[in-house]
Amino acid sequence: MDIILAKSAGFCFGVQKAVDKVNEKIGTEKKLSTYGPIIHNEQVVDEFKKQGVKVVNDLSLLDSGNENCVVIRSHGIDRDTQMQMEDMNLKIVDATCPFVKRIHRIVEKDSAEGKKIVIIGNPGHPEVEGIKGWSVTNANVIETEEDIDKLSLSIEDKISIVSQTTFNHKKFKDLVEIFEKKGYDISVANTICNATEERQTEAREIASKVDVMIVIGGAHSSNSQKLYEICKEECENTIFIQTLEDLKLEQFVPFNRVGITAGASTPNNIIEEVQNYVRINF
Ligand code: F3S
Repeated sequence: MDIILAKSAGFCFGVQKAVDKVNEKIGTEKKLSTYGPIIHNEQVVDEFKKQGVKVVNDLSLLDSGNENCVVIRSHGIDRDTQMQMEDMNLKIVDATCPFVKRIHRIVEKDSAEGKKIVIIGNPGHPEVEGIKGWSVTNANVIETEEDIDKLSLSIEDKISIVSQTTFNHKKFKDLVEIFEKKGYDISVANTICNATEERQTEAREIASKVDVMIVIGGAHSSNSQKLYEICKEECENTIFIQTLEDLKLEQFVPFNRVGITAGASTPNNIIEEVQNYVRINF
């Protein structure tokens, strides 16, 4: 039995940094919260909860003053929420991934210069909501070709296009091409994170040569869902699991090669557990 584990599986730089920041503050801060789940992984969030870290989604639930320490999650937040935190005089630890911060800056600057903002990403995803909130004018979010047709943009408009960090690279390129073909005046910042691109390329490659492909990730993790989609295109027997408990490999027996990859917010111990289980049992 061959097991191919993706080298890029597991915590990316931004997620590792956010988790490290929370760990640093545990024990030194009496009232520690994260604004929203720190990363999209229930196991990690639950582990922090056990250590007294609260998850708040509503600032009105916190008392003002720097007794309360709030960690901004890796996905970032919108500008109004950040201002509100500052006005409340909370102790703020910003764990927004620097790659996401860069998008905030582009959107803020370009919108202030009068460009119309188009974000290519999943509407409703916290990272996208945060990015939208840095535009000084209304930002548009698109995910598909049909969404482009629904935009109320004029050919005279100057348009600034950015991407959610975890968006599918090929889909991003295709959508940008449509804007070009329609003759829009666009400036494009490909803000897809390298870590995401490498992970997607490696996942595709592994999935194309195995009998079963396992993708490990949080149910709400956008980058893990994308990995699943990509792997499924290459390998019909692709399964998505959150932890070892979800793994049902018996249905695929017999098989010779198994591939494993994991999203950016999947901790190493879960990946190792799955790998060991497959090695021992099949
Ligand atoms: Fe940052 Fe890229 Fe991870 S944007 S949070 S390093 S996937």
